[in-house]
Amino acid sequence: NNLDTLYRQVIMDHYKNPRNRGVVEGDALSIEMNNPTCGDRIQLQLKVEDEIVKDAKFDGEGCSISMSSASMMTQVIIGKKLDDALKMSRAFSQMMLGEDIDVEGLDLGDIEALQGVSKFPARIKCATLAWKAMEKGVQED
Ligand code: FES
Ligand code: FES
Repeated sequence: NNLDTLYRQVIMDHYKNPRNRGVVEGDALSIEMNNPTCGDRIQLQLKVEDEIVKDAKFDGEGCSISMSSASMMTQVIIGKKLDDALKMSRAFSQMMLGEDIDVEGLDLGDIEALQGVSKFPARIKCATLAWKAMEKGVQED
């Protein structure tokens, strides 16, 4: 239907014109994560200051869902407190699993922005790759 078409267009737009693809200037956390089911990899860089994500960039090779999801994720987490970025990550996993989202304290615009990818639940490992990388980086920091 039309909504699915729209979601696909948003995903393809992020895939073809990725936001925040590249390398962060200066000191940054670097995280590598692979999707064991296909071997695709992502490199994520986070610049965190005062518990706030000041910058986030990614690189890697992967399918359209994994790369567009990474692009969307960077847009959502830049400027956020680490706690809120982690909350968004949990909410995104819940969306992918079709569970009710715990929206308390979340920006509804962010949730809307991520909705397109969550319509492909069979691709959960692809869609959550960047988010898992972000969680790993934050936990190791
Ligand atoms: Fe990766 Fe189809 S592009 S499973
Ligand atoms: Fe490898 Fe999607 S098929 S990340």
